[in-house]
Amino acid sequence: MQFKKILVTCALPYANGDIHIGHMLEHIQADIWVRYHRMMGHKVFFICADDAHGTPIMLKAQELKISTEEMIKKIYHKHVLDFTKFNISYDNYYTTHSKENYFFSKLIFNRLNKKNLIKKEIIQQLYDLHYNIFLPDRYVKGDCPQCKSIGQYGDNCEICGAIYSSSNLINPISILSNTKPILRNSEHYFFDLPKFNKILITWINSGVLEKTVSNKVKEWLFSGLKKWDISRDAPYFGFKIPKSINKYFYVWLDAPIGYIGTFKNLCNKNKKLNFDEWWNKNSKTKLYHFIGKDIIYFHSLFWPAMLEGSDFRKPDKLFVHGHVTLNGQKMSKSRGRFITAKLWLKYLDTDSLRYYYASKLSSNINDIDFNPLDFVKNINGDIVNKIVNIAARNAYFINNYFGNNLSKTINMKLYLRFVQKSEIIHNYLKSCKFSHVIKEILMLSDIANRYVDKHKPWLLIKDDAQKKNIQEICSMGINMFRVIMIYMKPIMPNLSQKTEFFLKKKLCFNKIKIPLINRKINKFQKLFERINITNLDKLIKISKR
Ligand code: MSP
Ligand code: ZN
Repeated sequence: MQFKKILVTCALPYANGDIHIGHMLEHIQADIWVRYHRMMGHKVFFICADDAHGTPIMLKAQELKISTEEMIKKIYHKHVLDFTKFNISYDNYYTTHSKENYFFSKLIFNRLNKKNLIKKEIIQQLYDLHYNIFLPDRYVKGDCPQCKSIGQYGDNCEICGAIYSSSNLINPISILSNTKPILRNSEHYFFDLPKFNKILITWINSGVLEKTVSNKVKEWLFSGLKKWDISRDAPYFGFKIPKSINKYFYVWLDAPIGYIGTFKNLCNKNKKLNFDEWWNKNSKTKLYHFIGKDIIYFHSLFWPAMLEGSDFRKPDKLFVHGHVTLNGQKMSKSRGRFITAKLWLKYLDTDSLRYYYASKLSSNINDIDFNPLDFVKNINGDIVNKIVNIAARNAYFINNYFGNNLSKTINMKLYLRFVQKSEIIHNYLKSCKFSHVIKEILMLSDIANRYVDKHKPWLLIKDDAQKKNIQEICSMGINMFRVIMIYMKPIMPNLSQKTEFFLKKKLCFNKIKIPLINRKINKFQKLFERINITNLDKLIKISKR
């Protein structure tokens, strides 16, 4: 097999709030994928960062009466803690507010500018006279210019779906000061996106996206691209545009460049890494982005065009996921339907959320519902009663009657039935079809449990003549459990670690064909705690406040 060099990223979370279980879906999905590829011997670098710029972050710090720098630093440490506790195996977690990112933002801007791909244009925007600030679309409300519905945001209408610019709103009101904004002129910088139409079509057709997503992107491409406004006026928290007066890069310009900045920072720490090998135009390494469906436009149009225009390599694939809903409803902090990662950690373990998401995830962009009853049924029913139970019931005999020794032989025909599943498990793991992996694992668990049920070691044990038989039956059980746990390893790192201790053997794919026989295991100790319903209830109650 040829080992690949792969750089994997998750979208950079905004540095103005806590990580919640919606964000966690993406980090868990990517981490499972990364752990699997590392298990297979590929060289994978997995990076992410806080997205620290933009008006909402600046205003949030003002509201908290601290400097923006201080706020993003505090939030950074919180985010790192959450991801570490959820076992998200980042090689580097950085920030977009960094010297590396400023360097590459300027470099890319200058290269685009040199190629005449940046244009200046005077535009009219809504301006809040009380706050002395141009208002981002989300900070203006008014009546929809199309269907006249009241109280719509400045970017699109939630009632009729119309997309417009905030200066077209009827009766606009600034959300910040509750006053009527005025229209004011300002010179902005635009990136000439339409120039990249052809290249983007070729790129989209090269298999970077799942069919449903690429169809959507093609619709955008065929309906015509517009120049992209990449500048914002002061006051703004971000990077100053070179040779401009009081103009800043729009946060969405330097955010994806944060992928490059974060990798560069990793290169500074790891001298063996050669930056150019990973980012120059003809790079042979792979670049994969995990993103949510709400940011497809940025990653499938703006980002590859910027990279193309500035002579960097483009991504090889975008893995896009849907959104997590809570009991069927959109997660929303303001409406109190919201579970932070930190709250989760207080009441529940992290492998359980990883398993739950894996059992729902496939390569599509369907939303994923977190439903507490379904969650308990899944975890206690599948992990505890089915999977871990195989180990517990067989270890009982191996530990108590055979001095922890596994038999010298097992039923190889049945063993190979389990091993033969590897091929489709590999395919499912590679393509992020984790729910299919779980389905296979549960089918195998049923086979394993039925095997023990059929042979009834607890009855045979009364007959001395059956001793050797029991050792073989239970060793077979342990071996079936081991194969299942190899398939499960990228999904549940904590359970896997305990399993490795129990089996006295690392779980890995390349040794799967060799069964564990004629060797010792450890005494069985609880591998997984059943979900405590009281704790889950507490979590749900708090998240509803
Ligand atoms: N800062 C930008 C991304 C810049 S990437 C160069 C951003 N940040 S975010 O914090 O709003 O979202 C980060 C990621 O989390 C996005 O991929 C987004 O889709 C994902 N999610 C945010 N809420 C989510 C759910 N409720 N469910 C699933 N994913 C969610 O966008
Ligand atoms: Zn409308």
